[in-house]
Amino acid sequence: MRTVHHGDGVAWLQAARLTTEHAIVTSMPDHSELPQLGVDGWKQWFTTTAELACRQVTDEAVTIFFQTDVKHDGRWIDKGYLVSVGAERAGSHLLWHKVVCRATPGTVGFGRPAYAHLLCFSRGLRLTPAQSSADVLPALGEMPWSRAMGVDVCRAVARFLLKHTACRTVVDPFCGVGTMLAVANEEGLSAIGVELSRRRASKARNFQLGG
Ligand SMILES: C[S@@+](CC[C@H](N)C(=O)[O-])C[C@H]1O[C@@H](n2cnc3c(N)ncnc32)[C@H](O)[C@@H]1O
Repeated sequence: MRTVHHGDGVAWLQAARLTTEHAIVTSMPDHSELPQLGVDGWKQWFTTTAELACRQVTDEAVTIFFQTDVKHDGRWIDKGYLVSVGAERAGSHLLWHKVVCRATPGTVGFGRPAYAHLLCFSRGLRLTPAQSSADVLPALGEMPWSRAMGVDVCRAVARFLLKHTACRTVVDPFCGVGTMLAVANEEGLSAIGVELSRRRASKARNFQLGG
């Protein structure tokens, strides 16, 4: 089952009443997508929104972020750090931090790094050593568009949810064309998405992998 809302993901999250069924899995927009905020304003927005996403799940549920750092004016903006600040303010703890290879290790990048962060937070859930999984993912997998979460990453997340949590509905408040929603459905999970762009929201309602 899949439901996609066209609108502001922050307003939707603020009003949401999530249950033990729901996990948030998202990739929040880069500062280039919110130019009206300026870089410092966007950093505040990003951290506050990460905090909200961590607060809105129940104690035993998880919030998972897929984020790629960006270079701005000769300095790196570490989005893994920014979401961690938000999570800490929400009283959430890091269950795992995976590095996803976006390019072959050893590749020199200029504006974008050869890795992305995949971070999982929860207030109440803990994982035993037997529940460990690989912390370096070798590839993104298919990318339906340039800002997508890769399909292999989405699949690893969906399988983690099925195996190690009670969450059976993925909520992506910044769902883009719906990559995470489509993979969740393929893996037998329900999905709820929110997207500000009417065109992408419309695509996300029916998006299928490999199409
Ligand atoms: C990094 S992309 C997400 C990509 C998505 N995971 C996918 O695989 O297609 C961020 C998305 O957030 C959307 N966005 C930006 N501001 C938003 C807001 N306030 N509410 C909801 N969506 C927003 C952008 O239009 C963009 O599609």
